Amino acid sequence: MSLEIVRSVAALRARVAGWRKEGIRVGVVPTMGALHEGHMSLVRLAQSHADRVIVTLFVNPTQFNNKDDLAAYPRTEHEDAAKLAALDVDILYAPDAAEMYPNGFSTTVSVKGVSEGLCGAFRPGHFDGVATVVTKLLLQSGADCAVFGEKDFQQLSVIRRLVADLDIPVEIIPGPTVRETDGLAMSSRNVRLTPDGRAAAPALAAALFEAATKLRTGAPIAPTIAATRDAILAAGFTEVEYLELRDAISLAPVDALTGPARLLVAAWRDGVRLIDNVQVDRP
Ligand code: PAF
Repeated sequence: MSLEIVRSVAALRARVAGWRKEGIRVGVVPTMGALHEGHMSLVRLAQSHADRVIVTLFVNPTQFNNKDDLAAYPRTEHEDAAKLAALDVDILYAPDAAEMYPNGFSTTVSVKGVSEGLCGAFRPGHFDGVATVVTKLLLQSGADCAVFGEKDFQQLSVIRRLVADLDIPVEIIPGPTVRETDGLAMSSRNVRLTPDGRAAAPALAAALFEAATKLRTGAPIAPTIAATRDAILAAGFTEVEYLELRDAISLAPVDALTGPARLLVAAWRDGVRLIDNVQVDRP
């Protein structure tokens, strides 16, 4: 079947209702486009959990706290559609802003707790924008399952929380972070690095993995984090916005490894903000 491009909520609902009558399981992969291999792995994961897959493409203005960042965000629908067609995706749902936020739109989904700190502290309003648009996309698609990448681990935690709190009947499936061969987590921001920045960037993941290994084998948390921060700066990053060990479910700060934890980082190089995270199991 060829890729169908759908632009309205009504058309999407009609399509999904037809599938439902046939007992077909539907998966959705929300994206903002500029698709790379990381997104493709999420699509393949959705296809392994569902009979039909919808990929959504909407550059959501409400999650950008910086107008220039929104304006600079790559818009490559034509190329994205070709990549999805090659993977046999069933529907590309690409509404415009008026369809998502019609005149009079006044509702915000705001998730306390997991949205606070980390990216939430540096990008005011970002997770309200994400939570609101993801709630809409889940309700519009009525999908049985939805795939989100672990690369945006705090976003994944926010989405898990809102789905549980709002009783949205969808299974959230986490997709492992896809990395370049040198370890750099794939991101649409990587192309904005200078050649020197691109060469330095894998040090971020290397520092995280090294710290995770040390913590797993019982190294003390605070000094390990301080040394990892120094290593990231020494590798050529200009700023470490945050580097924190958090509980893997609640995202509460962790000062002893009593259960699964996540080490999360945001750091700047060449005016590009890179994020990454790794699992840290108890020793
Ligand atoms: O991760 C993203 O690309 C976006 O935050 C999402 C989940 C599609 C919501 O706009």
